[in-house]
Amino acid sequence: MKFFVDTAEVDDIRELQATGLLDGVTTNPSLIAKSGRDFKQVIAEICEIVDGPVSAEVAALDVEGMIAEGEHLAKIASNVTIKIPVTPAGLKACKHFSNNGIKTNVTLCFSANQALLAAKVGATYISPFIGRLDDINLSGMDLIADIRTIYDNYAFTTEILAASIRTLNHVSDAALSGADVATIPPAIIHKMYGHPLTDKGLEGFVKDWASTGQSIL
Ligand code: E4P
Repeated sequence: MKFFVDTAEVDDIRELQATGLLDGVTTNPSLIAKSGRDFKQVIAEICEIVDGPVSAEVAALDVEGMIAEGEHLAKIASNVTIKIPVTPAGLKACKHFSNNGIKTNVTLCFSANQALLAAKVGATYISPFIGRLDDINLSGMDLIADIRTIYDNYAFTTEILAASIRTLNHVSDAALSGADVATIPPAIIHKMYGHPLTDKGLEGFVKDWASTGQSIL
């Protein structure tokens, strides 16, 4: 499973890039607003740090506006992926982008039917929002599994990008359910390393090694 980071904070992205774990980045208008920075400048900086896809979301709600904004954003760097909502206008714009070789991330997906529509217009990624479904007592993970089955049934090449990830279990469950990608907030990525038995085990090894009085170099 590929790891994208879900943030518009350039310093966090730079730090994660250095781990060698990062395959791409997703942003959204809320994350850009939280950063307090200029959208296009942030996207340009992220694209210089990361070679993989960087999702930049259109703001327009009509087809022509989405196409104009998407084409403008796509010029920032070759790894910009245009993020579009799964609306009738968004899917028309998605079809236009797929026909013109521009990568797309269809966002705000909450149902298997929406994912089916996105695949039919050639979306590069579909983003089911796991956490927001869990928030209303529906199973985000069941949605990932359903989309996996549908896409495999028809050999759709659209990649399932598990989004709105809030917990460590969301990451491992998305991998178990066959998501191609998970976009994860930085804090959750950092927590993925941790296990109390790793800390305890290492403490014991360090102590026992010191008692040998040896050195490797
Ligand atoms: C995905 O691309 C979105 O940016 C993001 O995962 C939404 O997460 P949230 O539901 O925590 O806002």
